[in-house]
Amino acid sequence: MSDKAILEIDGKKYEFPIIRGTENEVAIDVKALRTVTGGVITLDPGFKNTGSCSSTITFLDGEKGILRHRGYAIEELTKKASFLEVAYLIIFGELPTKEEFAKFDNDVKKESLVNEEMKEIVNGFPKNAHPMGMVSALTSALTAFNPKSVYVGTEDEMYKAIVILLAKFPVLAAWSHRRNKGLPLNYADNSLDYISNIMQMLFKLPTEEYKMNPIAVKAMDELLILHEDHEQNCSTSTVRISGSSHVGLFASVATGVSALWGELHGGANQAVLEMLEAIKEDGGGVEKFIARAKDKNDPFRLMGFGHRVYKNFDPRARIIKEACDELFEDLDLNDPVLEIAKHLEQVALKDEYFIKRKLFPNVDFYSGIIYRALGIPVEMFTVMFAIGRLPGWIAQWKEMRENHEPIGRPRQLYVGEPLRAFKEYSER
Ligand code: ACO
Repeated sequence: MSDKAILEIDGKKYEFPIIRGTENEVAIDVKALRTVTGGVITLDPGFKNTGSCSSTITFLDGEKGILRHRGYAIEELTKKASFLEVAYLIIFGELPTKEEFAKFDNDVKKESLVNEEMKEIVNGFPKNAHPMGMVSALTSALTAFNPKSVYVGTEDEMYKAIVILLAKFPVLAAWSHRRNKGLPLNYADNSLDYISNIMQMLFKLPTEEYKMNPIAVKAMDELLILHEDHEQNCSTSTVRISGSSHVGLFASVATGVSALWGELHGGANQAVLEMLEAIKEDGGGVEKFIARAKDKNDPFRLMGFGHRVYKNFDPRARIIKEACDELFEDLDLNDPVLEIAKHLEQVALKDEYFIKRKLFPNVDFYSGIIYRALGIPVEMFTVMFAIGRLPGWIAQWKEMRENHEPIGRPRQLYVGEPLRAFKEYSER
């Protein structure tokens, strides 16, 4: 196996090292490209072929449908660990011992109070503001209330910033929902585990006892574990690149929340449910929508289908589909939209257009249906995804800082006007 790649430009040959990953993935190290060639760059819109970093956090193989965090298969993690345990694993590299987990859990709980003045910001948003916009702004605002967390010179400072964010982010997420619903902004309950606490913060009413449903908590735990990290996706790359300017963790994660919001990324879970509802209202026939998705003159896409990396199947979608069936059976639920989703999947998977382009259901195809069964309103779906992805953003930001990565600053190929003489205002 060669350890060098040869590039020929204008008859001149240049050699670049080949680097291999743990699973034998191959990368051409082009760090010296501009220097040795006198300014040549690679052009790769959407970074479809470009690795932005080396990472030890997540391995995924899109062809084989593999997803692992720190070497552990996602299928095992969802069944055997809790959300916060997986968060610890992703952020610090190893599964926590009982003592480590107890300390971490306690440290997070100690930070669960959010400054009361933040409520004024929450109440300053229009009641019908989208919660993703609120969560992004509130995460940024955390910086103002915790200025020390911006500069993370030591390991202790970094740890502190991490536990603050893990503790306060779900509170802000719940507050964005409660603002939408006109409910009082409530507090964390430190007697509960991380996921049960999120459920009570979202749903508890001051007038009555909130009865925790263990089936719903388990389903939410599993669903959020599935979202914890997914290597260099759009929002994570955004977090890494904004953090590379040495802006603090909270400001970096706020940019990730914004990136996640778009319907080609985390916003797809909301878009999927809206699409399924539209199919239902249209009489339930899926063929018309499939035809629209295939029509190149129609911008409509089948939401929840396709993935930049998974070209075989998305292992998370498989787990979610199972979890969805289990939840509906356990809670004895019936949602016509679930039947439409299954039918749509069946028809699309047999269609030449989707087969040829390797388009399979992604993580978002069934997640919205579970969220709805758990009582989460549609506009909160992407916020739930953000709560799930938070540990991944933190871990990737931490890795980027610890590896002393240079500031992210891509190059471009200029294809605009060449130098031209300025045209005076009177002559235009
Ligand atoms: N419906 C119809 N056609 C599709 C779809 C879709 N959902 N997804 C891709 N295609 C087609 C494209 O039109 C293109 O066809 P062409 O080769 O004839 O031009 C081909 O498949 C390749 O698509 P690209 O857009 O080049 O693939 P890319 O890797 O850039 O995009 C993406 C991936 C953004 C996820 C895309 O599949 C999509 O828009 N899916 C719908 C939105 C969605 O579900 N997003 C969630 C992704 S998972 C996540 O972020 C958590």
